Amino acid sequence: MYFSLGGGLLLVIILSFYEAGIFGAVQSGEETGKNMPVEVLPKGFVSSKNCKSCHIEEYNSWRESYHRTMTQVASPVSVKGPFNGDKWNLHGETYRAFQKGKRFWADLPGPNQSRLEKEIVMVTGSHHQQIYWFASGNSRKLEQFPFVYLLGEEQWIPQKTHFVMEPTKVVSTEPGSWNISCIKCHVTIGRPRYGGRDNIDSLVGEFGIACEACHGPGEDHIRQYSNLQNQTKKISKVSSKKQKSLINPRKLTHRRSAQVCGQCHGIFTFNNTKDGLEWNSKGFSYRPGDDLHKSRFYIRKSNQHKVPAQNLIKANPKFMEQSFWPDGMVRVSGREFNGMMESPCYQRGELTCISCHELHKSAGDSRPYKEWANDLMKKEMLTDQACLQCHKSFASKVVNHTHHSENSPGSQCTNCHMPYSTYGLLKAIRSHQISNPTVAESTDFGRPNACNQCHLDKTLDWTATYLEKWYQVPKPQLSSDEKSVAASLLWLLRGDAGQRALIAWSMGWEPARRASGKEWMPPYLAQLLVDPYDAVRLLAYWSLRTLPSFRNFDYDFVASEVQRLSARNNAIQIWNQRSQKDKMGSDSVLITRQGIIKETIFQRLLRERDDRPVNLAE
Ligand code: HEC
Ligand code: HEC
Ligand code: HEC
Ligand code: HEC
Ligand code: HEC
Ligand code: HEC
Ligand code: HEC
Ligand code: HEC
Repeated sequence: MYFSLGGGLLLVIILSFYEAGIFGAVQSGEETGKNMPVEVLPKGFVSSKNCKSCHIEEYNSWRESYHRTMTQVASPVSVKGPFNGDKWNLHGETYRAFQKGKRFWADLPGPNQSRLEKEIVMVTGSHHQQIYWFASGNSRKLEQFPFVYLLGEEQWIPQKTHFVMEPTKVVSTEPGSWNISCIKCHVTIGRPRYGGRDNIDSLVGEFGIACEACHGPGEDHIRQYSNLQNQTKKISKVSSKKQKSLINPRKLTHRRSAQVCGQCHGIFTFNNTKDGLEWNSKGFSYRPGDDLHKSRFYIRKSNQHKVPAQNLIKANPKFMEQSFWPDGMVRVSGREFNGMMESPCYQRGELTCISCHELHKSAGDSRPYKEWANDLMKKEMLTDQACLQCHKSFASKVVNHTHHSENSPGSQCTNCHMPYSTYGLLKAIRSHQISNPTVAESTDFGRPNACNQCHLDKTLDWTATYLEKWYQVPKPQLSSDEKSVAASLLWLLRGDAGQRALIAWSMGWEPARRASGKEWMPPYLAQLLVDPYDAVRLLAYWSLRTLPSFRNFDYDFVASEVQRLSARNNAIQIWNQRSQKDKMGSDSVLITRQGIIKETIFQRLLRERDDRPVNLAE
C-alpha cells in the first residue's frame, strides 16, 4: 500500500536513456498504442514464461499467488469491480465507471466544469482491493480513478477512505504517482524513466511480481540448463562473463534471504541522489543474493539522524510518525522487513521470512491454493510451531508460560508476541517485530498492548497486575482513568485516529469477543459511526454489523454528517431496547449491570479526544 508523501525527492529526477533487453518487448498487441507503461525486459531477464517448462510446480503455485496479479493490464479477466455505469458523488462532483465492450472507462470531472472520459488501462491489487489507473494521454503517465473497489465487501469506496489520513476534502488523481512510487514494489524490475511532468516513459520487466524479482535474472540459468540448440543461440548474444546462477532464497543466510523480501516489504530511501537517478533510468541495482543495505538505506529509529533519513524528514517532518510508533516499531502494513530487523530472533538468531512463509506451496500441503495464497503461510507455521521451531524448550511449558488454557487464543504465541498493532488495507495486521506485551508501550508510546487489545473490557491496571503476578514485570505508575476505565475505551474515546482505527477493528475480532464479551460494545461502535476519519467509521461499521441485532443495520459511512448522527442514534436505540442481560456492562466499560451508560465520564473522555491529525503511510 502506499500513501502520498508529496512527491519530494523524485520530482527532481531527470530524463534517462533508453534501454531494451535482448528479448525485446513482450507486450500483447492490445496494449501497444496506449499511453501506459509497457513490459520490456532488461538485459539478463527472460520473464516467467521461460521458467514454466522446467519448473511447472513452482510456476503453478506462483500463478495462484497475489504476487503474480499485483499489477495487471486492464481486461475483463483482471478488472473485478463492476463498471456498470453507476454514478457516485464525492465532494460535490460526479464520477462514473462504465464499460464499452471489453474496455473499461471512467467519467470524471475535468478542468473548468468539463467532463473527461478516460480509459482504464491498468489495475493494482487483486486480494483485498483494486485500484484503477487511466492513461493521462501524456507519455506513459498514469492517473488514478479516485474510487477503489473492495473485493471482499464487493463495494466501491472513495480512494482516500482506506487510509487513516486527515479528513480533508482533497480528491486527487495523483498524476504520475504510479510511475514513480508504486513501480518500486508492485512490479518486477520497474524503471520509472521520469523526464519531466509530461515525459514519463516507464518500463517494467513484468507487471506481476514474478520469478526473477526473487530469484534474480534467469538468462544464464536457462542457458546453463537448456539443451535446445536454437534457444542457446538466441540467448547467447549477451554476456560472455562468468555465468551467474539463480538464487534460491532458502540457501542464503537468514539476513540475505529476508532482504529478498525486504526489497519491497520495507521502508527505505536512496543513499544519495546519484543512486536515485540511476534507479530512475535503470531500476534498482539490487539483485537477490546481494547485500540490500549496500544499495539502499533502510530507515529505523536508531539511524534517523543519518543524512539519507534526514533528507526525507526535511521534505516531510512527519515522516517518522507516519510509519513508526514513537519507540520505532513499524505501525503500517507491507513493511515487515523493518519489523524483523528490530526483532531479537533476527538480530541474535536466524529468523527470516521463510521461517514462517513459503512462496511456493509445499508438495505435501493439501490446502487449496486460495487458502495458501492468503498470507502465504507454511501450513505448520499457522500454529505455535512458528515460534517453537526455535524456542523448543517452550513446547513443554506453554500453559505455564502463557497462564491461559491450552486451547485459549490467549495461549497462542503470536497473539502476545506479534499482536495486531499494525494498520493497513482497512484492517489491523500482525506486527512483525517480535516483542513482549507491556503496559509501558501503551502508556509511553500509545500502542495498544496485546493483553488489552484482546481483553477489551479490562484496564491497564488489571494488565499490569497480572504481568507482575505472572512475569514479575514491575507495575508502572498509572493515572486514575488508567486504573478505572478499560484501556480500549480510553483509546476509542480519547485516543487519536490511529488508536481508534485499531480498536474499531479489534471489537470485531473473535478472540477479543471471547475474552471480553460483546454485549457492551454497541454504544461504543455507534460513537465511532460519527468519527471524523472515514476509515475509522468504516471499520466501526464492519465490527458493529457482526453483532447480534445489527446484522441488517443500514449505514453509509460517506453520508452527510446529519445522516451519520441519526445512524448513531439508531444504533444506540437498538441497543437500549435489548433486555437487561443483553446489554449488561461492568464498571470498567462504563456501563452498569442494568445496562445504563455512565454518560458523564463517557462525554468527558470524548471531549478529551486527541484530534491532532494522523496520517499513516501504509
Ligand atoms: C515500498 C514498497 C511499496 C510501495 C512503494 C507501494 N506498495 Fe502497495 N503494497 C506493498 C506491499 C508489501 C503490499 C502488501 C501488504 C499486505 O498484503 O499486507 C502492498 C499492498 C498494496 C495493495 C493491496 C493489494 C491487494 O491485492 O489487496 C494496494 C491496493 C496497494 N499496495 C497500492 C499501492 C499503490 C497505489 C502504490 C503507489 C501509489 C503502492 N501501493 C506503493 C508495497 C508497496
Ligand atoms: C531448461 C530448464 C530450466 C529452465 C528453463 C529454468 N530452470 Fe531453474 N533449474 C533447472 C534445473 C535442472 C535446476 C536444478 C538444479 C539442481 O537441482 O541443482 C534448476 C534449479 C533452479 C532453482 C534452484 C536453485 C538452487 O540453488 O536451489 C531455482 C530457484 C530456479 N531453478 C529458478 C528458475 C527460474 C526463476 C527460471 C526462469 C527464469 C528457471 N529456473 C528456468 C532447469 C531450468
Ligand atoms: C516473491 C518471491 C518469489 C517469487 C515471485 C518466486 N519465487 Fe521461487 N522461491 C522463492 C523462495 C523464497 C523459495 C525458497 C522456498 C520457498 O519459500 O518456497 C523459492 C524456491 C524456488 C525453487 C526451488 C525449489 C526447491 O525446492 O528448492 C524454484 C525452482 C523456484 N522457486 C522457481 C520459481 C519460479 C519458476 C517462479 C516464477 C514462476 C518463482 N520461483 C517465483 C521465492 C519466490
Ligand atoms: C517485487 C516486490 C516484492 C517482493 C520481492 C516480495 N514481495 Fe511480497 N508482496 C509484494 C506486494 C506488492 C504485495 C501485495 C500483493 C497483493 O496482496 O495483491 C505482496 C504481498 C505479500 C504477502 C501477502 C499475500 C496476500 O495477499 O495475502 C506476503 C505474505 C508476502 N508478500 C511475503 C513475501 C515474502 C516472504 C517475500 C520474500 C520471499 C516477498 N513477499 C517478496 C511485493 C513483493
Ligand atoms: C529461527 C529461529 C527463531 C524463531 C522462528 C523465533 N525465534 Fe525468538 N529468538 C530466537 C533466538 C536465537 C533468540 C535470541 C536468544 C538469546 O539471545 O538468548 C530469540 C529471542 C527471542 C525473544 C527475546 C528473548 C530475550 O531474552 O530477550 C523473544 C521474546 C522471542 N524470541 C520470542 C519469539 C516468538 C514469540 C516467536 C514466534 C512468533 C519466535 N521468537 C520465533 C530464535 C527464533
Ligand atoms: C514468526 C513467523 C513469521 C515471520 C518470520 C514472518 N511472518 Fe509474515 N506473517 C506471519 C503471520 C502469523 C501472519 C498473519 C497470519 C494471520 O493473519 O493470522 C503474517 C502475515 C504477513 C503478511 C500479510 C499481512 C496482511 O494481513 O495483509 C505479510 C505481507 C507478511 N506476513 C510478510 C512477511 C515478510 C516480508 C516477512 C519477513 C520480513 C515475514 N512476513 C516474516 C508470521 C510471520
Ligand atoms: C488473543 C486474546 C488474548 C490475549 C492476547 C490475552 N488473553 Fe487473557 N484471556 C483470553 C481469553 C479468551 C480468556 C478466557 C478464558 C480462556 O479462554 O482461556 C482469557 C483469560 C484471562 C484471564 C483469566 C480470566 C479473567 O478475565 O480474569 C486473565 C487474568 C488473563 N486472560 C490475562 C491476560 C494477560 C495479562 C494477557 C497479556 C499478557 C492476556 N490475558 C492476553 C484471551 C487473551
Ligand atoms: C499471554 C501472553 C503470552 C503468550 C501467549 C506467550 N507469551 Fe511469551 N512472554 C510473555 C510475556 C509477558 C513475556 C515477558 C516476560 C518478561 O518480561 O520477563 C514473554 C517472554 C517470552 C520470551 C522471552 C523470555 C523468556 O522467558 O525466555 C520468549 C522466548 C517467549 N515469551 C516465547 C513464547 C512462546 C514460544 C510462546 C508460545 C508458545 C509464547 N511466548 C506465548 C507473554 C506471552
